[in-house]
This record gives sequence, structure tokens and C-alpha cells, in this order.
Amino acid sequence: MDKLATLIVVTCTALVLAGCATDGGRAGGTGAFTFGLFGDLAYLPEQEPLLENVLTDLNVASLEFVVHVGDLGGPRYGSCSNELWARRKAQFDASVHPLIYTPGDNEWTDCHDAQGVPGGDPLERLTSLRAFFFQGEHSLGRRALILKRQSQSADPLFRKYRENVRWVHGDVTFMTLHVVGSNNGFGFSAASDIEHAERNRVNMIWLREGFAAARANNSRAIMIIQQANIFPEVLPYPGKLGTGSSELRALLEKETIAFGKTVVLVHGDSHYFRIDKPLGRRPNVPAIENFTRVETFGQPNHHWLHVTVDPDDPNVFIFGQRTVAPNVMKRQYRQ
Ligand SMILES: [Fe+2]
Repeated sequence: MDKLATLIVVTCTALVLAGCATDGGRAGGTGAFTFGLFGDLAYLPEQEPLLENVLTDLNVASLEFVVHVGDLGGPRYGSCSNELWARRKAQFDASVHPLIYTPGDNEWTDCHDAQGVPGGDPLERLTSLRAFFFQGEHSLGRRALILKRQSQSADPLFRKYRENVRWVHGDVTFMTLHVVGSNNGFGFSAASDIEHAERNRVNMIWLREGFAAARANNSRAIMIIQQANIFPEVLPYPGKLGTGSSELRALLEKETIAFGKTVVLVHGDSHYFRIDKPLGRRPNVPAIENFTRVETFGQPNHHWLHVTVDPDDPNVFIFGQRTVAPNVMKRQYRQ
């Protein structure tokens, strides 16, 4: 499909879905519930109030939990700093809903000179990020959700991967996967390639375990949440094409086909709200029907996604855009 056609489909899908979404926390039949998705916001200091508006909007919505898909801000304006992390953590801890956060490239892989962070050390930031945001066995927020962390495994290989988490709500298995932009940390330095190789191996194990858990739970669907956009062939795609996630993507395709039920991959990274079917596309071959990709809004678009899980719906998930009223730009058409 050409780019214009893709845009039309995405726009129409968004409008239809927005109309279908219910506002309450619980919706539809037995076992229905709602949650929120956001990320990639407040890159500039003047956008901080816009993020506050998003958080306020989330807080007044009736939701079971919210998930932040990574990128706490822009590297040039503090996303690599302890100060900004502390501000975000306070905001997340103040969430009335349980809040789950998965790391973005702006918190570590992009923390170096070329990204406007003089003297930045990505691997040091990664270690600090894990210690800062991923403590205990529960989510952030005033109402905590108990999470299963990959680090709970007896195998010491997984000990530091506290950020890879899984939880079950209703008929759905949810998991986060630490896959980030900037080619998932591959190709930056010899040390980063070693880090990438291990994390990639561990992520593949966690992804397989997630699907196995979904099968064991007899879940109707699995939702995988990560920061990186791993579909470079579908524009807009951020940065250069790379190989840092290709092995993982192949595994995702294999597991999705074997699972046979609804699979949704949520990510940020390109800052382009869309719902599409990018997996398994080949000439004259349909995209894999049980797989859907959902990308959240990202700066300069300060809004969030409202998701309803309705067991009576054949697709399980109903996605709705939530336009945050005070963040709507005042416009005047000019020729
Ligand atoms: Fe971003």
C-alpha cells in the first residue's frame, strides 16, 4: 500500500476506534477492563506543562493501569540526567493508577556527545536507570500492581534484567521487553555490542517465556510493550536502518504464528500514532492476521491511547485516541 493509502487507513481506523471506545474503567461484558498507553513526551522544557496535562487526564480516567513506552524527555534537555529521572519518577509515583515504565533510548543509548550530552556514557546510564526505576516487585504509582520480573529467575544471567516484566489481567497476558531505538544499542561501541548481544539473547528468552505463559494462562491475547519501532520498512521510521532487532523480530513472527490468537506489539520511538498490520508482509502475501502494531503519540503530540479489553470482541482490544483538550494547538488557517 502506498504512503497516502496507509495514512487514510490509519486515520479512518483511529476515528472509528475513537468512536467505539467506552469511557468507563470497566466496559462491555464480564472480564472487560480499560488501561492507558503513553510515552515519548516533553522533550523540550516548554513541553513540561503538556506532559502534566496528559498525566492529569490519565489520573481522572477510570483505568486499571497505565504503561509508559519509554523516552522520558529529550537528551539535550535532561533525559539522561538524574534530575529529570527524579522528576519523572515523582510524577509516575503520583499516578493514581499503577504505572509500568519500559526504558527508551533517550534514557541511555542516546546519552552521548553526538546527541548533545557531553561526556555521556550510555552503559553507565543503563546501570543507573535500572537501579533508579526498577526496584521491588511492584509497579510505580499510588496503587501498585505486582509484576513478575525476569530478574526473579534463579539463573544469574537474568539478574540485572529487572525492567523486563510480565503481568496478567483478565484474559490477557502483558509483558514489557527492553528493546530500544538507536538500533537497540548495537553498533555504537565494542562495549555496547557486548551489552546488546547479551540483552538480545535475554529478550528472546523473555519473549518465548511470555508466549508460553500466555498459553499456560489460556489467555485470549498477549500484549508486548517496548520502546523501539522495529518495522523500518514502514515509514516514518526513526534513524538509520539497522540489524539490532532483526533476530528478535523473526522470533516475534514465529511465536505469533504458533500462538494463533491476538498479538499486539505496542511501541513509541517514531512519535507517530498508528494502528497497522506490518508483520509478515511479503509481495502478494497478506500480513499476519492475528498481529497488530500500535504506536503511541509522541512529542509534539501530547496525547494518550485508551485501550478497552473486551472478551466479547473478536479482536480482544479496542483502541481509542485520547486527545488532551488543553494540549490541542490553537490554529489559524493561513494560505
Ligand atoms: Fe522518542
